[in-house]
Amino acid sequence: MQIAIIGAGTMGSGIAQVAAMAGCKVSLYDTRYQAVESAVGQIEKNLQRLQGKGRLATADVVAIMQRILPVVQLEEMHPVSLALEAIVENLEVKRALFQQLEAIVSPDCLLATNTSALSITALAGACKHPNRVVGLHFFNPAPVMPLVEVAPALQTAPETVDKAMAIVQQWGKTTVRVKDTPGFIVNRVARPFYGEALRILEEGMADAATIDWAMTHIAGFRMGPFALMDLIGHDVNYAVTETTFRAYYFDPRYKPSITQLRLVEAGYLGRKTGKGFYDYSQGSMPPEPTQDEPLGRYIVERILAMLFNEAVDAWYWGIASRKDIDLAMTLGVNYPKGLLQWAAETGTTQVLATIENLYQRYREDRYRPSPGWQKMTA
Ligand code: NAI
Repeated sequence: MQIAIIGAGTMGSGIAQVAAMAGCKVSLYDTRYQAVESAVGQIEKNLQRLQGKGRLATADVVAIMQRILPVVQLEEMHPVSLALEAIVENLEVKRALFQQLEAIVSPDCLLATNTSALSITALAGACKHPNRVVGLHFFNPAPVMPLVEVAPALQTAPETVDKAMAIVQQWGKTTVRVKDTPGFIVNRVARPFYGEALRILEEGMADAATIDWAMTHIAGFRMGPFALMDLIGHDVNYAVTETTFRAYYFDPRYKPSITQLRLVEAGYLGRKTGKGFYDYSQGSMPPEPTQDEPLGRYIVERILAMLFNEAVDAWYWGIASRKDIDLAMTLGVNYPKGLLQWAAETGTTQVLATIENLYQRYREDRYRPSPGWQKMTA
C-alpha cells in the first residue's frame, strides 16, 4: 500500500516510521525540506536502536528505509490510497492543504488528519469530497504509543471509517472510535488529572510532591500530575486545557489554572527548560513528599472522583462506547485501569457521594455530578 504523510515534524516522522515498518510505501513531504531530511535521519536512528536490541535485522532496516520516499514537491508523491497530514495545528492551513491534496490524489484516496483539537467536520467542509475525510489521532511518540482515536466528521462515509480503521490496525495500532468533539476521548477525559491536582495545590491542601506521591504510590499511576505536566511542557498542557475550556463554551470543569499560566509566562515550562513545578538543574534534589496516608487517600479519592465523573459524562453524551473510553485511557495515557471499570469497582454510590460532597462544599458547577451516574447505577 502507498500512502503520503504531510508534515515531517514530531508526529509525521513517527507515523511515517510506523507505516513503513508495517510495509507501506510512504511519500514524506514538508514545506521545509530540512524537516523531511531530519525525519529520515531520526527514523533511521530509531530503527538502528531496534536493530541493536535484536528486534530488527539489518536487512529489515534497509528495506524499511527504502520504503520512505522523501518528496520535495507535493505533486511528486506516489499515487496513494491514504494521505495523512500532521502539519501545524491551524484550521486554515490544514483546510488549504486538503484542497491542494484533492487536486493531486485520486477520488477514492482517504484524507486523514492528526489534529489534536480542531474540528474534523470543519476540515472536511473545505473538501469537494468530504466523505473521505477522517480524523486519525495518534499519540506521541507514535512508534511506541499503541492507541489511535478514529474520529469521523459529520460528512464522513462509513466505508471511510472502516478503511481507515483497518489500515491503522494493520499498522499494529488499537483503534477507538470517537465523536468529532473537542479533545476526543483522551484529551478531554484526562483534564481533571491535571486540573483537580492544581486546585488541591492552589488551595494549599498539599504540595506538588505530596500529590504526585499519592497518585503514584496510592492510586498506581505511573507518574503524578505535576511530574507529568513538567514532562509534557506547561505551554502545551496549558494550551490544551485552554482550548478545551473554550471549545466547551467555558464549562468550568475545564477551567485553566492561573498557577500554570504563571509558569508559562515565566518560561518555567518543565523538563525542557530545566524548571517547572520541580527543579531539574544539575545537583538539585527532588522535593520530599509528606507521606501522610490519610491526606494521600483524600487526594486520590478527589482526583479519581473527578476523572470518573468526566469518563461517565463522555459515555453519557455518546462521545464513545464504555469499552473504548476505558481502552483509550489505558493505552493513550497509561492509566492503571479503565476509568469506568475502576469507578464500578470502587462503587458508584461511593464515588457519587465524593462528587456530591465536593459540590456541596464549593457550590461550583465544576463539581456537578454527570447525569450519566443515574444511567450507571441503573
Ligand atoms: P511539529 O511542529 O513537530 O511538525 C509540524 C511540521 O509541519 C513542521 O515540520 C512544519 O514545517 C510542517 N508544516 C507546516 N505547515 C505545513 C504545510 N502547509 N505543508 C506541509 N508541511 C507543513 O508538530 P507536531 O507536534 O508533529 O504536530 C503535528 C500535528 O499533530 C498537529 O496538528 C498537532 O496538533 C498534532 N498532534 C501532536 C501531538 C504531539 O504530542 N506533538 C500529539 C497528537 C497530535
